[in-house]
Amino acid sequence: MKILVVGSGGREHALSWKLAQSERIQTVFVAPGNGGTALDARLVNVEITDPAALADFVVAENVALTLVGPEAPLAAGIVNLFRARGLKIFGPTREAAQLESSKDFAKAFMQRHGIPTAKYQSFSDAAQAHAYVDANGAPIVIKADGLAAGKGVVVAMTLEEAHAAVDHMLSDNAFGDAGARIVIEEFLAGEEASFIVMCDGKNVLPLATSQDHKRLKDHDEGPNTGGMGAYSPAPIVTPSMHARVMREIINPTIQGMAKDGIVFTGFLYAGLMIDSEGNPRTLEFNCRMGDPETQPIMARLKSDFVTVLEHACNGALDTVELEWDRRTAVGVVMAAAGYPDSPRKGDVIDGIPAETPECVTFHAGTQLVAGSLQTNGGRVLCVVGLGDSVKMAQKQAYETVEKVHFNGAQYRRDIGWRGVK
Ligand code: AMP
Ligand code: GLY
Repeated sequence: MKILVVGSGGREHALSWKLAQSERIQTVFVAPGNGGTALDARLVNVEITDPAALADFVVAENVALTLVGPEAPLAAGIVNLFRARGLKIFGPTREAAQLESSKDFAKAFMQRHGIPTAKYQSFSDAAQAHAYVDANGAPIVIKADGLAAGKGVVVAMTLEEAHAAVDHMLSDNAFGDAGARIVIEEFLAGEEASFIVMCDGKNVLPLATSQDHKRLKDHDEGPNTGGMGAYSPAPIVTPSMHARVMREIINPTIQGMAKDGIVFTGFLYAGLMIDSEGNPRTLEFNCRMGDPETQPIMARLKSDFVTVLEHACNGALDTVELEWDRRTAVGVVMAAAGYPDSPRKGDVIDGIPAETPECVTFHAGTQLVAGSLQTNGGRVLCVVGLGDSVKMAQKQAYETVEKVHFNGAQYRRDIGWRGVK
């Protein structure tokens, strides 16, 4: 069987790496892929990004199933387009993807269906937004409504920062249409976790839990990034917390979408904030797998992912039981010089060791230039180590990280710290 994975990040490398392990796979195409998917003999990069051209490719190559990694093609309606042509694809429709593509939609949805989240209000008028900030005080959180590649959220610790963020988004038009409307919400304190499930329109199948590290530097300092590392499982999501999140957040979301006339298919990722009393609230929804959460999650998945995806496309997730490696996986992101503001491209990467049962390196912003592997984006690699404890998994990952070299590499030395007792 042939499968197509859409995207070019570390998430897509990990997904296609896992799919290619299936005995049932003939070829995994990755569009457009990266240097790592180019180097993997079992994967084939395809230089197509336009959804209609991808659908043509799928028909011509007789691809059985398409899996979409990033949010942008989902928000643009790639699932609608494929389905209209009778092609199997796993992901949310354009309508369902609004849970991620519009924060205003997601907040109104959560309020309407009683899903726990931060108190908020939406604005397109700057004067009203400033007045709301003054009335509510800091800390306070300002979010661009639309997709802003992870840069549209400002957690303002002072009124000054909050007003500046409002001006930046509404008056300076920093995010274009994506920031023409903003959400201002209550600051929530606590510990974050990533809760990701697969939905087939009827059934929900939770994946292993994980925790991301959004800040650039150790001890959660420095600017926000797309994610500097993740580990799985996340100890904060105990079995009782898991049950509570399913009951209070995931199931009401799927059911609420159905009530609103939208069938949800695809990955649903609830970004949670769990407060000191153990109450989970939803910070955001994503309609896709997390990056870098996918890398440690896929490293732990033992079940045949091709079969899981087929069941997901056929509305049969209720027949699937996932099997996980009992070990912890720690994924350390190695980022380019200048990340996150202005990542440098073109640095030569060397020293990536061959995969072992304890460690695998997924590529993100890399490309092959005349046989030489070079940096080609902000997050360059994600090195995933596996071990019987967080500490042992960290040891595996960091031993490899230290062998890999490119000029200006930045990485955190504390990925998984919350999981170390
Ligand atoms: P989002 O893209 O909505 O997940 O926001 C990015 C990051 O900003 C989250 O992972 C949190 O670390 C932080 N954040 C977002 N909303 C809030 C909030 N209401 N309170 C505190 N931190 C938040
Ligand atoms: N790691 C956060 C995200 O994928 O949005």
